Amino acid sequence: MDSLKILTTLTMVFWLPSGCYTNSEGSWCYTERHCGPRTWISHGHCNGKRQSPINIIHKDAIHNPSLGPLDLVGYDNCKKLLKIKNTGKTVDVSLEDGLHLAGFGLPTRYTAKSFHLHWGDGATRPGSEHQINGKPYSMELHIVHTRNNLSIPNAVKNSKGIAVLAFFIQKSKNAESKTAEAWELFAENLKNISEKGEDMLLNCSFSLMDLMGSSNFSHYYRYLGSLTTPSCDEAVIWTVFADPILVSPEVVRKFASNLSSTESSKGPRLMNNFRPIQKIGERKVEVSDALKSAATIFVSPPTVFILFLSIATFQPFFSM
Ligand SMILES: *[C@@H]1O[C@H](CO)[C@@H](O)[C@H](O)[C@H]1NC(C)=O
Ligand SMILES: *[C@@H]1O[C@H](CO)[C@@H](O)[C@H](O)[C@H]1NC(C)=O
Ligand SMILES: *[C@@H]1O[C@H](CO)[C@@H](O)[C@H](O)[C@H]1NC(C)=O
Ligand SMILES: *[C@@H]1O[C@H](CO)[C@@H](O)[C@H](O)[C@H]1NC(C)=O
Ligand SMILES: *[C@@H]1O[C@H](CO)[C@@H](O)[C@H](O)[C@H]1NC(C)=O
Ligand SMILES: [Zn+2]
Repeated sequence: MDSLKILTTLTMVFWLPSGCYTNSEGSWCYTERHCGPRTWISHGHCNGKRQSPINIIHKDAIHNPSLGPLDLVGYDNCKKLLKIKNTGKTVDVSLEDGLHLAGFGLPTRYTAKSFHLHWGDGATRPGSEHQINGKPYSMELHIVHTRNNLSIPNAVKNSKGIAVLAFFIQKSKNAESKTAEAWELFAENLKNISEKGEDMLLNCSFSLMDLMGSSNFSHYYRYLGSLTTPSCDEAVIWTVFADPILVSPEVVRKFASNLSSTESSKGPRLMNNFRPIQKIGERKVEVSDALKSAATIFVSPPTVFILFLSIATFQPFFSM
């Protein structure tokens, strides 16, 4: 009597692996229940204790006076941006040899290999991976570097094998700068790689520095974490910049609507490709010297409340 039930269960158990869990590519996803982030704990290191992303609480971050400005070499060279690709999970840009990162708190020189993005639904749902004081941003840019130019498979074996620079991207109606223009040029390419697997050579219309724009390279948080996609290897030194890059709302909409997550351009949109916040556990986040000193940027909620109260109280005088 129950054999049908058992058969169904067995069929599901054996059918799912062939459908969704076969290989590490394409065996995980962001938005479907059977392969979404809750199921990632069965992949690689995703159930570990130094996972990313995290919510960074500014007031809990430890001041490290030796965290000065980062030293970035070669990022202003547009020729280093080789190919832009729709991987079905993100937009990935491969980089030619010659972009180097060094600085305080990094044990050695790191070489940039590629960059990619995470985003939400383009309209209402923000899609950054990290958050600051519980606030997510529209998108997040990740520039992936390896220690002494190691290959990625070798770098993930080292607890500090990878250094990722993370920048928040925020949609803003007032975004009218050289940076915002560079993002418009970047987003122009998306319609040419609408299907998963499509790629295209870039033509030097912007550099990585143009995209990073006016961000202050001395305002950042530093912590040890993991890759944010399976197999979530715990090999990453994270540098999360505090100043968001402002882009037009149209740019954010293009990421969420110009790309398909499958080989058909009519397939489900590639969107909401961000991992939920992970437990910080025993870890401490460090804050750079300049960011700690730039206290006015982060006015804590009680101060805002008091400010509000005093403005509200004095309002009648001002309006007289
Ligand atoms: C870095 O690694 C890449 C890929 O393996 C290789 O093509 C390049 O020559 C290396 N660069 C240096 C400076 O060793
Ligand atoms: C480079 O690509 C951008 C976006 O696809 C395009 O607008 C621009 O005209 C191209 N420039 C050249 C010199 O081909
Ligand atoms: C991008 O696609 C447009 C048509 O949508 C085409 O005219 C253009 O040549 C393509 N650009 C490249 C660089 O492939
Ligand atoms: C790209 O996205 C923009 C903004 O949502 C939309 O207006 C446009 O029609 C899209 N183009 C393609 C080719 O998907
Ligand atoms: C970065 O911020 C610091 C203060 O926190 C300031 O002194 C410095 O001039 C800023 N640098 C840039 C490039 O804006
Ligand atoms: Zn990423």
